[in-house]
Amino acid sequence: MHKLCLYSDIPEGSAKGFEIDGRKIVACNYRENIYIYENSCPHRSIPLEWQPDQFLDYEKTFIQCATHGALFKIDTGVCIAGPCVDDKLNKIAFIQEGEQILVEL
Ligand code: FES
Repeated sequence: MHKLCLYSDIPEGSAKGFEIDGRKIVACNYRENIYIYENSCPHRSIPLEWQPDQFLDYEKTFIQCATHGALFKIDTGVCIAGPCVDDKLNKIAFIQEGEQILVEL
């Protein structure tokens, strides 16, 4: 398990990018629940964001790939629009110990 961040580092309605041991990941807080995925679009296997920590669409209801605009459900990682519909972001297992979020890579 690797320490990622504190729960309070990812306020509700936001997402944050991290790199651990060369692996890029994105953690989202959606409706007070944390979801963590590999930061790699299943369409071209490239990072999703266009600027640091810019992962969500305007309404903060989907993770949006900056390259071709694919939209992914934050809670499941399933693509619902764009060139890779029905593909999924790769979910990263994690646990929360008090305030600390730990990921399994
Ligand atoms: S690389 Fe993400 S939609 Fe094309």
